[in-house]
Amino acid sequence: MGGEATVVVDAAPGYDETHRTTLEEVAWGASRPGRVWRVQPLCETPPMAREFTKVGVIGLGTMGAGIVEVFARNGIDVVAVEVTDEAVERGRGVLQHSTDRAVTRGKLTPEDQTALHARVQFTSDMADLKECQLVVEAVPEHLDLKKDIFAKLDAIVSDDAILATNTSSLPVTEIAVATINPKRVVGMHFFNPAPVLQFVEVIKTVITSDEIFEDVKALAERLGKKPVIVGDKAGFIANALLFGYLNHAVAMFESKYATREDIDAAMKLGCGYPMGPLALMDLIGLDTAYEILDTMYKQGRDRLHAPSPIIKQMVSAGLKGRKSGRGFYTYAAPGSSAVVDDALTPTAAAGSTAGTRPVRTVGVVGSGTMATGMVEVFAKAGLDVTFVARSEAKVEAVRAALAKSLEKAVQRGKATEEERDAALGHVRGTTRLEDLAQVDLVVEAVVEDLSVKRALFENLDEICRPDAILATTTSSLPVVECAAATKRPQDVVGMHFFNPAQVMKLVEVVHTVSTADDVVATVQALCATVGKHAVTCGDRAGFIVNALLFPYLNDAVKMLEANYSTADDIDTAMKTGCGLPMGPFELLDVVGLDVSLAIERELYLEFRERGYAPAPLLEHLVTAGYLGRKTGRGFRTYA
Ligand SMILES: NC(=O)c1ccc[n+]([C@@H]2O[C@H](COP(=O)([O-])OP(=O)(O)OC[C@H]3O[C@@H](n4cnc5c(N)ncnc54)[C@H](O)[C@@H]3O)[C@@H](O)[C@H]2O)c1
Repeated sequence: MGGEATVVVDAAPGYDETHRTTLEEVAWGASRPGRVWRVQPLCETPPMAREFTKVGVIGLGTMGAGIVEVFARNGIDVVAVEVTDEAVERGRGVLQHSTDRAVTRGKLTPEDQTALHARVQFTSDMADLKECQLVVEAVPEHLDLKKDIFAKLDAIVSDDAILATNTSSLPVTEIAVATINPKRVVGMHFFNPAPVLQFVEVIKTVITSDEIFEDVKALAERLGKKPVIVGDKAGFIANALLFGYLNHAVAMFESKYATREDIDAAMKLGCGYPMGPLALMDLIGLDTAYEILDTMYKQGRDRLHAPSPIIKQMVSAGLKGRKSGRGFYTYAAPGSSAVVDDALTPTAAAGSTAGTRPVRTVGVVGSGTMATGMVEVFAKAGLDVTFVARSEAKVEAVRAALAKSLEKAVQRGKATEEERDAALGHVRGTTRLEDLAQVDLVVEAVVEDLSVKRALFENLDEICRPDAILATTTSSLPVVECAAATKRPQDVVGMHFFNPAQVMKLVEVVHTVSTADDVVATVQALCATVGKHAVTCGDRAGFIVNALLFPYLNDAVKMLEANYSTADDIDTAMKTGCGLPMGPFELLDVVGLDVSLAIERELYLEFRERGYAPAPLLEHLVTAGYLGRKTGRGFRTYA
């Protein structure tokens, strides 16, 4: 069923090469070649409630330095405060580096860079904030530290200045009441990297004055951001949904369910995410991530937000992510985004120790979308493929679909006529399973029904020659059940392709407790031969992708159900705040609410996590027959 999920992702509106560029590249408009960003002169800004000409930023770490850049890019003078002269220099260096890159890439003229820097006054003295009309605080995520800073600000800035916190999870109300005038305190939660991501959550407490709040919202819009208004709840919209997913990914890594590279590749290639979860943890900073999870856990008591133990261990060891040069990955230098090899980096040698079996001929059982796609993938790679369908009519249908798909590839210039003919020449259709007697590997894609699959594996066990590998492309059934139906469980493996198989690069290679190492190695090598990216994991419900994706989607439904936000704002938050190709409700409607519910039930049954129990709202929509786009109504109604 991961297949269904990724059909959508693959076809997602707006999913384009942008997602293959780095976040930093997007920042300076790399996804729109030729676009040169210019500093907006003040006179061109639309009229607004309050004119901001000078603002302050406290803390120039991962977030603060980026926030300074956002203001300065938009023609606003900034007083940038750090705790020591050394930290001030570090902050200045980050701004210099970021704008240098923009100049190198032709996205910023040297003159505009000079003007931008001239707008920023760096200092280690908070008193320099005196004339600022707004101060944004971006110091580490500790309540006492933030309260202390806000109390001090009271005595420095004028009475009508606005005080904003960039906290990701701490109660803004508590920070506000540390000041003499809590009405002027708001949350202004930028996303990382601040110059790149358009989303800003503006947090209104029960005390914030409407006027202040409107001023901040208008300012965010002037900065080119998309502000969304939220209440004061730990994690707000985006982090409340994101951090459960990140914590889950860390737990997968910690339990050695899959490698860091495979977890990250699975989410990038399977869901079109711009970064994998562990690389994102490194970007966020593990210390910050720990504090956010800890606060979320303390507020909601959801076990799934209890920080995975390894996060604290890594923070204690100084492995805070990119900013310290090492986190889940190792970086060329502190602050660098360049990943360098370390002891965990997979080596070609490590992969080959198990040896592989030769695979020249392949069998595919089934005649549906997945089977047809896999036949094409193997045939295009020059392997002889025998596919088995249940009737002559189905054999013909597969052949016709294959011919059509290959013809389309020729029309689009993706294949030559010779390649098309060669691929077709490698394919043979039959209705007899016995014709698979001599193939090296069989992969089945028949109906997702365990009794049907078990009967098929029993037959394949009798028919196929010894040493042939038997694979299933199931997305939700236990692979070991198929293995147990044979007398050669060591030769049985999962090969979870994503839909459309011809397009999606990802294959989850699933080993059971019985699978032989050389079988895993053979399937990994086969994936490489046919141009797929294999990630390897154990035989648990959801494998990597669905296990990480669906609890997050379920959390989004629960958030909607609790009336914390709207489907539109939640979708916007995840797309513009986290760079995801689709929002959770868009995705659920395309995947199908019935399919999603089935996967969520599967995950809940396997892990018995209270937090995985499907949201009642999802159950009700399915009961009502609102299954998403396919029925014209799901979370939204379609024409
Ligand atoms: N990292 C993220 O992805 C992210 C995203 C959105 C919001 N946030 C929030 O932004 C805030 C900052 O997080 P970060 O990741 O940038 O942390 P960070 O550790 O990278 O940077 C914090 C900076 O604050 C400075 N600092 C500490 N005490 C100070 C003081 N008294 N005066 C001035 N500067 C001081 C530190 O020297 C450090 O440079 C936190 O509240 C965090 O939750 C973080």
